[in-house]
Amino acid sequence: MRKCNKPILIKNSAKHYSVNYVPKPKVYVTRELPERGLNIIKKYFDTEVWPEYAPPPKKVIIEKVRNVDALAPLLSDKIDAEVFDAASNLKIVSQLAVGFDNIDLREATKRGIYVTNTPEVLTDTTADFAWALLMAVARRVVEADKYVRAEQWKVGWHPSMMQGRDVHHATIGIIGAGRIGYAVAKRAKGFDMKILFYDVIPRPEMERELGAKKVELDALFKESDFVSVHVPLMKETYHLVNAEKLNLMKKTAYLINNSRGPVVDGKALYQALKEGKIAGAGLDVFEQEPAPLDNPLLKLENVVVAPHISSASYETRSRMAEMVAENLVAFFEGRKPPNLINPDVLKVRPLSKQF
Ligand code: GLV
Repeated sequence: MRKCNKPILIKNSAKHYSVNYVPKPKVYVTRELPERGLNIIKKYFDTEVWPEYAPPPKKVIIEKVRNVDALAPLLSDKIDAEVFDAASNLKIVSQLAVGFDNIDLREATKRGIYVTNTPEVLTDTTADFAWALLMAVARRVVEADKYVRAEQWKVGWHPSMMQGRDVHHATIGIIGAGRIGYAVAKRAKGFDMKILFYDVIPRPEMERELGAKKVELDALFKESDFVSVHVPLMKETYHLVNAEKLNLMKKTAYLINNSRGPVVDGKALYQALKEGKIAGAGLDVFEQEPAPLDNPLLKLENVVVAPHISSASYETRSRMAEMVAENLVAFFEGRKPPNLINPDVLKVRPLSKQF
């Protein structure tokens, strides 16, 4: 990577040259990112960062994008036609997240705006967290912790105290067997589980490498002890897990979701849990985030919840921030950003050196 603010010689007359500076491109970053990435961004760009912990209101984003060449948002910032309409200089949106359902890709591509994300680095971290939710809900870890602290543990050891469900040798059903689904299945193999999966894309590696069995969606819901959801949010996956599918599940089965909240119909899930149609759920994502306290799912003992933190390890978040910077620098150096997700944009705005 070359240093920016490169001095250039301007020929004023036959004899006189003066030194001018190419101004650094401007970038607006919608939250304080981990240092490792933010320091690179600050070195190469004229950088403004939204200083608060809470997201900037949309009208702030609209105001800020008016003058910038690049935007570095998070998944909670809606980046749509309204934002793009205000952004006459915007050339690239470099998002910190693998999911990009918050960005209108079609509108970006139409306007020649590059969009990048941060895949792969978070695969194992996210799969680990799906497992943390699964283990926690099946073995009642959170309930048990509260029980001890609330001084409800009065009788020592008792054979029927806090019984949960076995994870080992149970059947897990993976919906969406992409990178994260595969990593969740790989961990299931270590627990001697039977692995089922459903995907619209053939995933021969699931069968070949993990001995998983491809099944229809209904069969997956019927046969699994744990259903774990790993699809992106799209028109086709909105409320993919609905009342009808939950009704197919065993009364002893659990639902795990750390993909996107709207993939699961929250009302239907609450009903299924409340009526004992399924045994429990582990949720890192919600239809509305932050999940409001009056979300009835938060009232249920058999639901383990987290605030959308599946990729939140120090190592992974640092690397994600670094990837945000690398995608930006590549673009302005005239290289294809390593994590470009709208390659059609190359036809609308061919790459060119901007530093
Ligand atoms: C987190 O949910 C992500 O998409 O990276």
